[in-house]
Amino acid sequence: MSDWVEVIDKNRKEIDVKQIRKDFPVLHQEVNGKPLAYFDNAATTQKPAQVIAALEHYYKKDNSNIHRGAHTLASRATENFENTRSSVKEFINAPSREEVIFTKGTTEAINLVASSFGERYIHEGDEIIISTMEHHSNIVPWQLLCERRKAILKVIPIFKNGEMDLEAYKKLLSSKTKLVSVVHASNALGTVNPIREMIDLAHNFGARFLVDGAQSAAHLPVDVQALDCDFLVFSAHKMYGPTGVGVLYGKRSLLEEMPPYQGGGEMISEVRFEKTSFNELPYKFEAGTPNIADVVAFDQAISYINRYGKDKIHSHESALLAYAFQKCVSIRGFEPIGTANEKVSVLSFNLKNIHPFDVGMMLDASGIAVRTGHHCTQPLMNWYGIEGTVRASFAVYNTTEEIDRLYESLVRISKRKN
Ligand SMILES: Cc1ncc(COP(=O)(O)O)c(C=O)c1O
Repeated sequence: MSDWVEVIDKNRKEIDVKQIRKDFPVLHQEVNGKPLAYFDNAATTQKPAQVIAALEHYYKKDNSNIHRGAHTLASRATENFENTRSSVKEFINAPSREEVIFTKGTTEAINLVASSFGERYIHEGDEIIISTMEHHSNIVPWQLLCERRKAILKVIPIFKNGEMDLEAYKKLLSSKTKLVSVVHASNALGTVNPIREMIDLAHNFGARFLVDGAQSAAHLPVDVQALDCDFLVFSAHKMYGPTGVGVLYGKRSLLEEMPPYQGGGEMISEVRFEKTSFNELPYKFEAGTPNIADVVAFDQAISYINRYGKDKIHSHESALLAYAFQKCVSIRGFEPIGTANEKVSVLSFNLKNIHPFDVGMMLDASGIAVRTGHHCTQPLMNWYGIEGTVRASFAVYNTTEEIDRLYESLVRISKRKN
């Protein structure tokens, strides 16, 4: 952990947080009589005025269904919707727009792959590998698939500090492995996994690799060509965008071979009662009217991140994490969960003898928003032998002053019981 703190300090890049905070209206309020300190960013981030304005503008000026209309509003809505696709393509450096599919979130994107890739490529006796630190949305779809196809789910162990056991991973890989699906950055621990190395290892066995980028898209560089991942999934709402929008990136050759996920309008080329032919990519996987307004507004969230650059954002957030850790570690009864060398800005911990939910409630009374519980990672919590944790996760608009308040509140809370 100490190496990691030093590296961050050396490379620190400043951003103007005061200015950034002006863009987030929700931050400027009191909660329970205290200024809001919002540290629940791994669950969902707040939205800048630019995103909110885009939503309002869309409904006031452009609202129309896309792709099929002959009128002006329909073309404007279509153009704006498709512009976001181009922005996503650039954001993740996808080779083409056709490889960017809109879903309603990370969860739906993983289910799409489990269902469609699963139907085409997973057979009895095949193996799928996930890890101990996966979110339920990267566990349950694979369990359901394995049940349907009589395939086998294998789980990579981790070390106590929350790092992936790469040697154990190497031993799990074999010619039976058809897919590896692993989180880029853990929502419960903050661990950043050596995803590039893990992808190469999987490819050596001809296995495909899905990266769950839900917690990395807003914080770390994610370049699908540099990673050479087969699939990448993430959610707009965790990167300053609206809820109800997610992205599935998939390599074109795979997406072309995969059967449709849902049937309906938009995803067809021609429908006859005898036989239906399907639309080309990406529309083959976008059945029905999509979440147009939120996709349009998502473009503003991407621009927002691009305006500052992920290197500066990550540097700021890492400095906040290091600051918070250095302070909190001195608190009596403070037990950090997840101390990997490389982390996104997630501080997961428990206070000895106090239930995490109680800590969360007491922090809320001071206007401090954290998440408590299993964070949709029950197998991980079981592995640590705990019920849950308190999780403070930082974003671009958080400040050291807010962390001071977190620290002071935790000191007060811990003194009650320790
Ligand atoms: C690592 C990870 N994967 C998947 C998800 C699911 O994302 P969503 O609820 O947006 O579908 C989350 C959400 O917390 C997450 O943190």
